[in-house]
Amino acid sequence: MGRPKLDTAPRPTGTTRRSFFFRSGGVAVAASAAAFPALARPDAGPLFQHGVASGDPLADRVILWTRVSPPERRRRMLVRWEIALDSALRHVVDRGIVLTDEGRDFTVKVDADHLKPATTYYYRFHARNESSPIGRTRTLPVGRANHVRLAVASCSNHAAGLFNAYRRIAERADLDFVLHLGDYLYEYGPAVFGSLRTPEPPNEMVTLSDYRLRHAQYKRDADLQALHRQHPMICIWDDHEITNDSWRDGAQNHTEGVEGSWPERVRQGLQAYYEWMPVREVDRSEPRRNQRAFRIGDLIDLLMLEERLQARSQQLPATLATPLGNGFVQAGEFLDPARTLLGSEQEAWLAERLRHSNARWKFIGQQVMFAHLKLQPAPLSAGGGVFVNPDQWDGYQPARDRVYAVLEGDAARPPVGDVVILTGDIHSSWAADLTRDPNNPNPAAGGYDAATGSGSRAVEFVGTSISSPGLSDPNGSTAAFLRSVNPHFKYIDFNQRGYMLLDVTRERAVCEWWFVDTVAAPSNVQTFGAAFEVRHGTNRLAPAAQTAAKPNPPALAP
Ligand SMILES: [Fe+2]
Repeated sequence: MGRPKLDTAPRPTGTTRRSFFFRSGGVAVAASAAAFPALARPDAGPLFQHGVASGDPLADRVILWTRVSPPERRRRMLVRWEIALDSALRHVVDRGIVLTDEGRDFTVKVDADHLKPATTYYYRFHARNESSPIGRTRTLPVGRANHVRLAVASCSNHAAGLFNAYRRIAERADLDFVLHLGDYLYEYGPAVFGSLRTPEPPNEMVTLSDYRLRHAQYKRDADLQALHRQHPMICIWDDHEITNDSWRDGAQNHTEGVEGSWPERVRQGLQAYYEWMPVREVDRSEPRRNQRAFRIGDLIDLLMLEERLQARSQQLPATLATPLGNGFVQAGEFLDPARTLLGSEQEAWLAERLRHSNARWKFIGQQVMFAHLKLQPAPLSAGGGVFVNPDQWDGYQPARDRVYAVLEGDAARPPVGDVVILTGDIHSSWAADLTRDPNNPNPAAGGYDAATGSGSRAVEFVGTSISSPGLSDPNGSTAAFLRSVNPHFKYIDFNQRGYMLLDVTRERAVCEWWFVDTVAAPSNVQTFGAAFEVRHGTNRLAPAAQTAAKPNPPALAP
């Protein structure tokens, strides 16, 4: 979402280095080890100072990640890994050895396979005479699955606040995984968007070296390390992983030339991202392509979308003055069907996956708000009213209509129900019924009845930020005004930082908003904010009670 435009100084772009990395468990590695005799002891801190992480779990495999901090003159490091069924790592089920080097910034990524479904594992890395912390991870179920719990995070700004919310997520032993919907890190220099902590390097990240150093700083945060140590993560970038309000061919916070070429900046930022995040690469020849599907037994098909770099058309300006700031109407270029968030290939992929899913629920993990958000109400027949933010789906109405067409079905294809959209980006908490024409009160004419939810096609849960500041709304008047204009929103809160907890059974999907009391100081206080649910087969929200933790969760990593 929009941020102040920054001053940016000319800076050379980073150099590229060829990546050299392999995984093996056998004889070839013994030969490699002999080829690289040990050098001097590391000179700067522990080898494993960036912790461990796991991610992109499937039923039989999961990515295991760490990073070694090598001695200054060392150019390659051998790292051993092991994965076990118990937290003491006595029952090891697989182990191996990998070579990492400066070409991948000494990060280590293993796709540990041949695992059992719905099973908690513990893993650890070794190099020289040091061992990493022990991490815990979990594979996805196959076949019938009755109950899944996950946390949803977004917008974790190291400079703006402490990651207390990450620590609260880490403490929940009963989660199956954590979703991170983007803005995992921010690009800004010191005191531009938060001044509680000083970013490293002390400038906007532009080069490969900048992006790597910023990732390294985040990965040294103890609360972030705790989260990664306890849960596998499924993540997708939003804009700030590269720079603010990005689209395919540029960004609000990119000055072509002065900050290098856009394709080169994206390439370097994504190189660091793939090095430092526990993600499985979808397409090495096209790193911007990153939509992924996760089958969570027969309970959830999770579809992760990429909405920034692969295909997004440039944001259009909001130029219509209103008492609450600039807005826009759905006219002119806003109605150009060629404008896209996903691109035709990803749109087709999403439609195909939605139409052919036989899971109880279809979850879509994505970046920017899908629900209409208006400053002035009007039914579509009267122009649709005035919208707020051209960076979210409101700025891409024809593209959103194409998604609605899939949900609604047509003469040849049945409607797709039980879709839940999960969103981050805007540092605030929202629950919405999803309908094409929320200010038309007649469902029989394609509208929406706010009292009953009739006319809603799906629901959306939007999570607040881990630490990024949001709009201040101390007496709730802004939220109340927006709810009066936008009757499809059942819950809006601007004031709290935290995360969402999703509790999913065959009958209902419940979303709880959990808030921390501060991001300005260490604290272990969290409070339950609200809960809404969607019952299977209804496609509309209802208030819900707080859910209970799963009994007898697997032991946390020590
Ligand atoms: Fe953000």
